[in-house]
Amino acid sequence: MPGFGVSPKNPLFYSLAAAGGKKGPNQMTNTVQRDILQQLEQLQHDAQTALTLATTTEATREWYSEYLSRKGRLTSILRNLGTLSAEKRPLVGKVANEVKSVLEQAFQERQAAIAQAELEAIRRTGSVDITLPGRPQNLGKLHITTRALRDIYAIFTAMGFQIYDSPEVETDEYNFQLLNIPPGHPARDMWDTFYTTTPGLLLRTHTSPGQIHAMREYAPEPIRVILPGKCYRYEQVTNRSESMFYQVEGLAVGKHITFSDLKGVLINFANQMYGEGREVRFRKSYFPFTEPSVEMDIVCILCNGKGCPICKYTGWLEILGAGVVHPCVLEYGGYNPAEFSGFAFGMGPERIALQKYGIDDIRYFYTNDARLLERV
Ligand code: FA5
Repeated sequence: MPGFGVSPKNPLFYSLAAAGGKKGPNQMTNTVQRDILQQLEQLQHDAQTALTLATTTEATREWYSEYLSRKGRLTSILRNLGTLSAEKRPLVGKVANEVKSVLEQAFQERQAAIAQAELEAIRRTGSVDITLPGRPQNLGKLHITTRALRDIYAIFTAMGFQIYDSPEVETDEYNFQLLNIPPGHPARDMWDTFYTTTPGLLLRTHTSPGQIHAMREYAPEPIRVILPGKCYRYEQVTNRSESMFYQVEGLAVGKHITFSDLKGVLINFANQMYGEGREVRFRKSYFPFTEPSVEMDIVCILCNGKGCPICKYTGWLEILGAGVVHPCVLEYGGYNPAEFSGFAFGMGPERIALQKYGIDDIRYFYTNDARLLERV
């Protein structure tokens, strides 16, 4: 049993008790002082005896609660300090503090000794087998969209594209007008838009406005960038369409860039993403900001081209829109279309991931069911 460091026969008890014994006008408070000192001495004695009997950590906690906690015996004695005269209070307070610190130190030492003894006991009985393998921890996994995005970044950065960040909240001007879609243009119906309460401000419906930001930053230098990020459309959620989804835009601007360059880059992308031999096709399409415009489909992996709900029973799934940058968009971006040309594309990483990992519904992506992560 560790020692308590200070004798329970605290000399202060005696000197103060003697002072309290004098007769005179303060006799009333002298009696109270003597009472409190006696109570403190008794408390210290009881506490020290009780602590020697506490042989477990649990028992020492109970001891602490009984003697030293806010609802403990020491605090309840100290409540009577208020009945002492101002002159006597500091002296009794000093004794109380000393009792408290003696008991606290005794408590710490007792606890340390018990903890050590408990550990020794466990070691002696051999109930901990340190040779047992640890319990496996469940490690998290990257979200499928993140994996798809990282695959896309790796493929395009290897082809010399830089990653460029552009805003998710856009102006009508960037999302539409500078992409050759003036107010009232019927092509606006292609993108059901979430408008904010601030006039002219909206959640971007596609990453294409980033083309203008990049051109205005780099003109008249050549550009090769990809622009990833979230897009928002007020449209029906289905097994292949979400109202919040990612796109990765691509933009190349320079001299003598042609549609063949676009095809070469996209076919290379598909080969790297899905492995050589995965069939792709280009279909003519329409976007106001590219001319000519196409969409690229890949053979649906889920049905092997036979037709299923995800490919709308066509055997093909559209993964991106693309084309040669329209001259007026180049001009809005600060390039002279007589000198410069370019291509652009916008792909859907979730659709690409559906096809890469054989997932049959895009709605699994953002419903937070961790079982999805086991499928890749
Ligand atoms: C566009 O958004 C054009 N900005 C693409 C573009 C860029 C064309 C540059 C020309 C030049 P579209 O609406 O088709 O096009 O979307 C492009 C791709 O985003 C689609 O092929 C698809 O992969 C993905 N996508 C579109 N809507 C959704 C949706 N609701 N949920 C999931 N993916 C979507």
